[in-house]
Amino acid sequence: MTTSIRDLRKWKSEGKKFTMLTAYDYTTARWLDRASIPVLLVGDSLGMTMLGYPDTLSVTMDDMIRHAGAVVRGAPNALVIGDLPFMAYHASAEDAIRNAGRFLQEARVQAVKMEGGGRVIEYTRQLAAMGIPVMAHLGLTPTFVNQFGGYRVQGRSDEAAEQILNDAKALEEAGVFAVVLEGIPSTLGERVTKALAIPTIGIGAGPHCDAQVLVIQDVLGLTPDHVAKFVRQYAKLGDAIEAAARQFDQDVRDGAFPTPEHEYSAR
Ligand code: KIV
Repeated sequence: MTTSIRDLRKWKSEGKKFTMLTAYDYTTARWLDRASIPVLLVGDSLGMTMLGYPDTLSVTMDDMIRHAGAVVRGAPNALVIGDLPFMAYHASAEDAIRNAGRFLQEARVQAVKMEGGGRVIEYTRQLAAMGIPVMAHLGLTPTFVNQFGGYRVQGRSDEAAEQILNDAKALEEAGVFAVVLEGIPSTLGERVTKALAIPTIGIGAGPHCDAQVLVIQDVLGLTPDHVAKFVRQYAKLGDAIEAAARQFDQDVRDGAFPTPEHEYSAR
C-alpha cells in the first residue's frame, strides 16, 4: 500500500523510525521501491548528482518535473515528494501555489518540500489549505549556500538554535507534515524532535531525529570525490561501474565479447 503523510505522523507517535532516500530516475526508484523505502525525495540535489552543477541554484521547475515524474512511475508504493527549487517560490505566494500545483498535476508527486522559515511559513499555510502537503527543511539549507558562505553546520550559537527551533514550531503550526533538519548539532536535532508532534527527518542532524534521509549517490558509493562526515556508504557501486566498464572494453579489444551465445542466427 502506498505510504501516506498520515503514516509518517503515526510512526512518530509509535516511536517507529523510518527512512527517506533521494531518487531522480525511474530505474533507481524501482529498486528503492522494491527495497520498501517508504519515502522518496526528488531533491533539487539532482542539480549536482544528475546535472553536474556545483550547487542546486540552477535547477528549474522543468528539470524537477521531468525527474519527479520518472520517480513516481517507478515507485508506486512510496510517498514521493517533489523539492521546489530555488526561485520556484521566492518571489511570491502565487509562484509557490502555481509551482507546487504543477508538481502534483504534471509529475503526480503527493507532496512538496520548501527550504527555510520566514515567508515559507505563510506559503505553507496557503498550500496546506489548498490540499497540497508541505515538508519543511531547516538548518543547512543548500539554496542558502551563498548566504551561509559555504556548506557550514548551522544552529551552533544559542541564538541560531532558538531560531531553528522557533521556525520548526511555526512551520508545524502552519501545517507542514514533516521537517527535514540538515547539518545541525545532534543536541539541537533532539530538541526539535522532542518539541514537535510531526516527524523530523535528519541528515547530519544526529540520531535522535524520527527518520533519516541520505542522498542515494552517497549511500551507493557513487560520489567520486569528498564524502561528508554524516554519510555511511552501504555499497561501492562506483568501483563496480568502473570495473565493469573496463572489463567490457578489454573483452571487446581482446575479441572475448561477443561470443556465440550473444549472436543471432540467420533463421
Ligand atoms: O535536495 C535534497 O536532496 C535534499 C535532501 C538532502 C534533504 O534536500
